[in-house]
Amino acid sequence: MKFKITVLPGDGIGVEVTREAVVCLETIAKKFGHEFEFNEQLIGGVALDKTGVPLPDETLKACWVSDAVLLGAVGAPQYDNNPPKLKPETGLLGLRAELGVFANLRPAFLHEPLIDASPLKTEIVRGTDLLIVRELMGGAYFGQPREITEERGLNTMAYTAPEVERVARVAFEAARVRRKKLTSIDKANVLESSQLWRKVVTRVAADYPDVTLEHGYVDSCAMALVTRPTSYDVIVTENLFGDILSDEAAVLTGSLGMLPSASIGGKVGLYEPVHGSAPDIAGQGIANPLGAIASAAMLLRYSCKLEKEAKVLETTISKVLAAGYGTADLKSQPKQVSTTEMGDIVRRFVGES
Ligand code: IPM
Ligand code: MN
Repeated sequence: MKFKITVLPGDGIGVEVTREAVVCLETIAKKFGHEFEFNEQLIGGVALDKTGVPLPDETLKACWVSDAVLLGAVGAPQYDNNPPKLKPETGLLGLRAELGVFANLRPAFLHEPLIDASPLKTEIVRGTDLLIVRELMGGAYFGQPREITEERGLNTMAYTAPEVERVARVAFEAARVRRKKLTSIDKANVLESSQLWRKVVTRVAADYPDVTLEHGYVDSCAMALVTRPTSYDVIVTENLFGDILSDEAAVLTGSLGMLPSASIGGKVGLYEPVHGSAPDIAGQGIANPLGAIASAAMLLRYSCKLEKEAKVLETTISKVLAAGYGTADLKSQPKQVSTTEMGDIVRRFVGES
């Protein structure tokens, strides 16, 4: 099969990790007889530098005519004081909205070899395998009006029933093919948008009698994630809560660098590691490419419908970790390797599988 993939390396370590993920896709293509046509475009700070905007039209056009988008990361400190329209992050948020990807899947899976890399006690964290389904096109990120003056900053958190329903369905479907447990996280004791959220999720549950639904508050979930992470299967939550909880969940797995994500629900899927551009370590060749490579596996699964190929890539990551390899963020791994070495090892293992 033939697929067109738009590649948006973006800023900082986004460039380094995306390169490894792209070459992994090429290795998969060769092994299984597929063809990927990669089209690299600008987003974020590099786009600002070269075109004056964080999401150039040319980038959007390329994304629309592709089968999937693979993104690295956006953001750099020199743009921190830019007005909202000229921030790298605005490019990413605009891309998500333009593509219509309302559901962001962030699996947090603890590979057994990384158990010592996790800051949590082994007996608490062992067996962690959860999936955060983060709503990606609503809430405080996109609420109107928004405003900033010298004296006041304003954002609004709003949800409509259809917005909640569509992401709830994605979460119920995901739970159905996992351990059939869904926890909906909100702040319904305080926020009206959360009260609606809870009502709609409860209503949708009637269509999924095989899935057990629980509700929880975001503050208590933040605590439970580090005290009893194995009690979760699928978590569904709104945009900002999902952003925060997914970074927290990432820590359970040993490193934020491990976590992949898939943003789906629109015409074209968007795949990116959960980590940011990490300007402090950019260009040193020490970033962990496994989050980006695992995102490429999700791209194979959701956009290309190549489940077997996705599994091969994911299983390979497990094997590489079991063989003791790790980048600098995975200090407990005995065989310390660079970003490109890690990519090479993954590809060698794919070749041998
Ligand atoms: C993420 C990031 C983004 C977000 C930023 C870079 C806009 O933190 O994907 O989690 O807040 O959604
Ligand atoms: Mn985030």
